[in-house]
Amino acid sequence: MTTVVAVEKQKLEQPPLDIHYLGDRVLRQPAKRIAKVDDKIRKTIREMLQTMYSADGIGLAAPQVGIHKQLIVIDIALDQPDKPPLVLINPKITKFGGNVCAAEEGCLSIPGVYLDVTRPEEIEVTYKNEHGKPSKLKATGLLSRAIQHEMDHLNGVMFVDRVENNLALNEELKKRGFAASAVKPVKK
Ligand code: CO
Repeated sequence: MTTVVAVEKQKLEQPPLDIHYLGDRVLRQPAKRIAKVDDKIRKTIREMLQTMYSADGIGLAAPQVGIHKQLIVIDIALDQPDKPPLVLINPKITKFGGNVCAAEEGCLSIPGVYLDVTRPEEIEVTYKNEHGKPSKLKATGLLSRAIQHEMDHLNGVMFVDRVENNLALNEELKKRGFAASAVKPVKK
């Protein structure tokens, strides 16, 4: 592990943070910009990573653990123990590119529900990393999708808000014990 925030990619019996689930108002509140990237933030990052790995997730946004800050952790290489995770602080998408494409998504805040979501294929994003360094990244494929999904959380948007197949949506939510009324469809 090379970065100061990296933690073992393993499941803990008692992850440090609690994940909030669909229907919880906490998930609908917008996140605030982080003014200073300090050791306190880096402690939160480590705890978010431990919580994400414990839940077998590839991404987690701070509002999902009740922290209303613009902070995201992503790791699409769970099988590569030495590959550091991606940390995005105050992320901003500066460009959408490619085609739009549909692919299945899931969310640690809506366990068991997997549905197709349509999103732009490519993005360019600016952010600060875990050291507070301004950074820029071009992403496509799963990484692009993960970043867009997590950034939605910072605006109080859940992936189910973007699902177009209402029939499948209601069926899946019901099956997993979530109320369809918790969905707030995104206006197009
Ligand atoms: Co999510």
